[in-house]
Amino acid sequence: MVFQARCEYGMRMTSAPDPFHIQEELKYLRLHITNFLSYQSAVLDLADLVALVGPNATGKSNAVAAIKLLREIPIHGLPIAIARRGGFDQLRHRSSGRPYNPALRLDFQFGDNPVSFYELKLRGMEGKRYEVKQERGVLHFKGDKYAFTNNAGTLGFTEMEGGHRSRVSGDRKIPVPAGQSAVSFPATFGLFIVARVLQLMQTVEINPALVGELQEPSSTREFEPDGSNTASVFEELTSETRAELVDELSAIVPGIQRIELRRLADKVTLAFVQELSEGKRREFLAKQMSDGTLRAFSILLSMLQESRPALLVIEEPEIAIHLGALRTLVDIMRQQSETTQVLITTHSADIIDTIDIDALRVVWSEDGASRIAPVAEHTREPVRQGLITPGQLLRSDSLDPASA
Ligand SMILES: Nc1ncnc2c1ncn2[C@@H]1O[C@H](COP(=O)(O)OP(=O)(O)O)[C@@H](O)[C@H]1O
Ligand SMILES: [Mg+2]
Repeated sequence: MVFQARCEYGMRMTSAPDPFHIQEELKYLRLHITNFLSYQSAVLDLADLVALVGPNATGKSNAVAAIKLLREIPIHGLPIAIARRGGFDQLRHRSSGRPYNPALRLDFQFGDNPVSFYELKLRGMEGKRYEVKQERGVLHFKGDKYAFTNNAGTLGFTEMEGGHRSRVSGDRKIPVPAGQSAVSFPATFGLFIVARVLQLMQTVEINPALVGELQEPSSTREFEPDGSNTASVFEELTSETRAELVDELSAIVPGIQRIELRRLADKVTLAFVQELSEGKRREFLAKQMSDGTLRAFSILLSMLQESRPALLVIEEPEIAIHLGALRTLVDIMRQQSETTQVLITTHSADIIDTIDIDALRVVWSEDGASRIAPVAEHTREPVRQGLITPGQLLRSDSLDPASA
């Protein structure tokens, strides 16, 4: 299982399918967010299905931004990943005007192997520039251990097979270009797997207008976060998965019987065949469907896509979806979360009423910094006894976090 350092710097990772089947055993455990956007120091514990709950502007989307940054480092390289989040100066936490040095750490685990992690620490420099202060990772994968450390641009690594301390590589030091991250260049097997782990986290923020529009045919099979390639992603599904998707969508939007791809000139879109009354069918193009239907469809598609992520982050699924449908949607997310972990952000009391109290993470703002914690034990007990629901607690502003 040891892979010699043979990739050249400058070779970018592509989102190729999963050659080592890493997804089957991968679990994301927790994200540590330090001096990043509104966070000073916070830990988000992940599980199969987790909901980040809190009022507006408390930091829910900023936690998602940390995940997006990590995902995009291997895809675009660190400078572009940072630029896409607004630039280094925007990313670093500020309180009373003072900027701090951001760091992110992701803990994950492959099956029964010990816990692995990846950590990136950045440091501000003159102007709005930054450098990688330290980047490191320890990967336990299929009984082997891979470790790497990038100290200010020099990568050292060790790769050990099984219990034997037979060090196969490690004396070589590899330079990492200034401002770049070692995971953008998979020079070792350990880096390659960690890069995949980061890329397998995917975010979804549907823009129904883009789902409805005629779309350019896209060659990537991977779901675009805004839903702008839904027709192409749908086209890639097997007929079984299409049937499953229609079945799930019809539980949310009654009457949907079939979904088909339509080509119009050089564009593609989807047609929804709907039964309006007994025996009366009509076909609607995506742009004629309601925003709620397009959002629900896109969320289901993101969960059923062929190149399925290992963690799917869905921001505010409650938007434009009616209450009855929300319950069904959360039920489907729960089922899917057995294979793809799901993290949602929400401020909907209706959504959290459908989620296990232990799966909630309260997000709040304290002295200008965002905090994250599970629900306090004294608050969980009455919920378990059925005396009150999480949504009622949220409405009465008493969904207390554990550490407050
Ligand atoms: N670099 C930063 N330092 C401190 N606070 C920040 C920084 N960037 C954004 N914020 C704060 O983050 C808040 C928005 O958080 P966000 O995650 O978008 O909220 P929501 O919970 O609604 O998704 C704003 O109040 C903003 O002031
Ligand atoms: Mg938000």
